Amino acid sequence: MMPSDERRSSASEPIRFNRPSLMGRELALVAEAMDGGWTAAAGPFSRRAEAALSDAHDGATVLLTTSCTAALELAAATLDLGPGDVVAVPSFTFPTTASAFARNGAALRFIDVDPDTLGMDPVHLADQIDERVKAVVPVHYAGRAASIEAVCDAASTVGATVIEDNAHGLFGTHNGRPLGTTGAMSTLSFHETKNFICGEGGALVINRPADVDRAEILLHKGTDRRRFDRGQVDKYTWQLTGSSFGLSDVLAAYLTGQLEARDEILGRRSALWHRYRDALSTVADRLGITLPVVPEGDTSAWHMFHLLIDGEHRRNRVLARLHADGIGATFHYQPLHSSPAGRRLADRTAHCPVTDRVADQLLRLPFHNRLAPAQADRVLDSLTRALEEV
Ligand SMILES: Cc1ncc(COP(=O)(O)O)c(C=O)c1O
Repeated sequence: MMPSDERRSSASEPIRFNRPSLMGRELALVAEAMDGGWTAAAGPFSRRAEAALSDAHDGATVLLTTSCTAALELAAATLDLGPGDVVAVPSFTFPTTASAFARNGAALRFIDVDPDTLGMDPVHLADQIDERVKAVVPVHYAGRAASIEAVCDAASTVGATVIEDNAHGLFGTHNGRPLGTTGAMSTLSFHETKNFICGEGGALVINRPADVDRAEILLHKGTDRRRFDRGQVDKYTWQLTGSSFGLSDVLAAYLTGQLEARDEILGRRSALWHRYRDALSTVADRLGITLPVVPEGDTSAWHMFHLLIDGEHRRNRVLARLHADGIGATFHYQPLHSSPAGRRLADRTAHCPVTDRVADQLLRLPFHNRLAPAQADRVLDSLTRALEEV
């Protein structure tokens, strides 16, 4: 089925920031799930999607969840983080990277981001970390790796567990390793804004076998249902205070269709990213913008295309021009350390000047699997004109 953005890309049609698209056999697989009669969590399609994701993570155990937020909450519960513990998170991230840990009583410590990676700054982390910090949660922003080895080194000085929030980075690599395989755990998002989608969905990737049993019990409503399904016990009983974190098999079937289209999706996103980047790199200095860089040898997951425009006022005026041209460009995260909840939940006042600056200057261009080259060129024309004029 050809989605509308590719069918009609007339010069006046608005260009949306995001558009979820069918990329392969999603609907046929959903029908197969319904015919098969297993629509709840942990069914045959969940096993298939989990196996594909496990292969992409060097054989780690993968548990599908209802969202990346749920996966982060499951990680927090698996590690039994709560009152008295501190969790270090970047200030430049989505609120649930932090709230997943705060909701069970852990305090937050906000860490600034590195201006190149826009992921957690390992130098600021090393400066801020102490024995109270039990977990550290770096984000691979836009699907480009954070300085994950240096973050892990800083975390290891106090024995803190690293959980990679890899909502953006499925299939990205860093120094030859898949993103999400360096920390003890990582989390994925299949929300409709991500590269691989099923409406709402996520996964917890568990790299330490010792954590698997507890995570499975917590996911299955606190019961040892999975042991029962495998024939390891003759009845299942209540073991822990868990919750209902598992993804419906109907959505797992949809996700399976998306994962089957992995090469097509990554190829399209990489082509779009490079189209934007190549066009803008020749004019970046003249127009006062900074473009994202993917280091030699790394592979981005090509989740989004962002640029920094010097000055918040100028960024906002450029955004307004793009909107007037029908182009759905947008800003991104607002600093968590100075947000109302962030101030309440942090264990100390944080200074995150890079986060403050990036939040003011960042602009994201329309980016999705079916954005046509002609539409990307319209975005570039409009952006270049706006940058020349404001
Ligand atoms: C870095 C990051 N972590 C977590 C999330 C939450 O993902 P979900 O919507 O799947 O809960 C997002 C959402 O965009 C995100 O950007």
